[in-house]
Amino acid sequence: MSSVFPRHTKSHLPTISHGKGVYLYDQAGKQYFDGSGGAAVSCLGHGDPDVIDAIKTQLDSIAYAHTSFFTSDPAEQLADKLIEHAPEGIERVYLVSGGSEAMEAALKLARQYFFEIGQPQRKHVIARRQSYHGNTLGALATGGNEWRRAPFAPLLVETTHISACFEYRGKGENETAFEYGQRVANELETEILRLGEDSVIAFVAEPVVGATAGAVPPVEGYFKRVREICDQYGVLLILDEVMCGMGRTGTLFASEQDDVRPDIVAVAKGLGAGYQPIGAMLCSGEIYAAIENGSGFFQHGHTYIGHPTACAAALAVLTKLTDGGIAARVSQMGDKLQKALEREFGDHPNIGDIRGRGLFRGLEIVEDRISKTPFDPARGIHKLLKKKTFEAGLACYPMGGTIDGQRGDHILLAPPFIIEDAHVDEIVSKLRIAMDQVL
Ligand SMILES: Cc1ncc(COP(=O)(O)O)c(C=O)c1O
Repeated sequence: MSSVFPRHTKSHLPTISHGKGVYLYDQAGKQYFDGSGGAAVSCLGHGDPDVIDAIKTQLDSIAYAHTSFFTSDPAEQLADKLIEHAPEGIERVYLVSGGSEAMEAALKLARQYFFEIGQPQRKHVIARRQSYHGNTLGALATGGNEWRRAPFAPLLVETTHISACFEYRGKGENETAFEYGQRVANELETEILRLGEDSVIAFVAEPVVGATAGAVPPVEGYFKRVREICDQYGVLLILDEVMCGMGRTGTLFASEQDDVRPDIVAVAKGLGAGYQPIGAMLCSGEIYAAIENGSGFFQHGHTYIGHPTACAAALAVLTKLTDGGIAARVSQMGDKLQKALEREFGDHPNIGDIRGRGLFRGLEIVEDRISKTPFDPARGIHKLLKKKTFEAGLACYPMGGTIDGQRGDHILLAPPFIIEDAHVDEIVSKLRIAMDQVL
């Protein structure tokens, strides 16, 4: 009998024993290839000696000190390093303990910014359908995944949602990808005008949609148009890079590839690479100045913000991703993974789309490739795939509700950045075993 409140009360999970490199081992001795780093977390694999050393060294000096009394070297150095590599205009870092906290901080800072600059009437947040921004109430309200929101709907602050930029599902036959992107970006303007030209705080989006839709990148020009609309109406652009950031798509910040300047950006997951729980909310110099010259403090905070041990771990991770060149390797290995997936599943009757960027790849499962008809959700295809891939020794991230929170299935792959060519083959062959059993 366990006393742990698990994610699913009816699941019987193996107990983890240890991890090494790209593999996880349970206590029965079974080996699993870590094909999704949990949920796109373990970007450096397991047992990285540099990160472990950094944590141990930090513990030997000071594990924790409250940020209302002290700053710390690891927090200062981590913030400096993030800013050194951050998108243009981003100047300050607020260090938290995970992705949802980073998004809560982003939402509250955006609101407080307008409060400070004398625009308290701005109260709406616009986000996109089929997005996920975290499970705390503010972040959950922002997310556009109906299944996740439904039970908590009465507790969620009102947020409106426009279409995602989801080419495979949304592009019309008679429009180009670019035209499609402009069309869905323009929905933002329509929504701003509907809510009131000067009443919107922020538009929130994941540059590459992760868990809810399966590694969906935007089409060319989409975010440029979004930025133009935000500038026109004085709306802040909050990019949620909790899953797709920190090198996952081949650049440290995913938005670099779309040439878009966020006002606020949230990161987590790969920042700590699983060695410590940590996230960060980064904001523009302009937003920071509004707080500094206004009330002088951000009306927010948690006990563990700027946790020195977590920061020491993240600094070691970030150093490897940037100076160590690991993030640069991601594009190369990501291309190899995409090609291998296309070779194996490109003609598979039940694989409708193979997509993504870097080592962030999604396969959308369909009943019929031509009509893109999904499987009946009652069949729980993604659940079966999760079970069978795990049995085959591959931990990956299948999800359902890809299209609208109810219909559709996909598999998300987010392997560690240290994978070698042979591991690409291993992912594909283990996926094949599971696919053959389920489909
Ligand atoms: C895009 C995105 N934002 C926010 C979160 C929430 O992060 P956390 O689970 O660390 O709170 C997630 C988690 O999957 C995510 O994928």
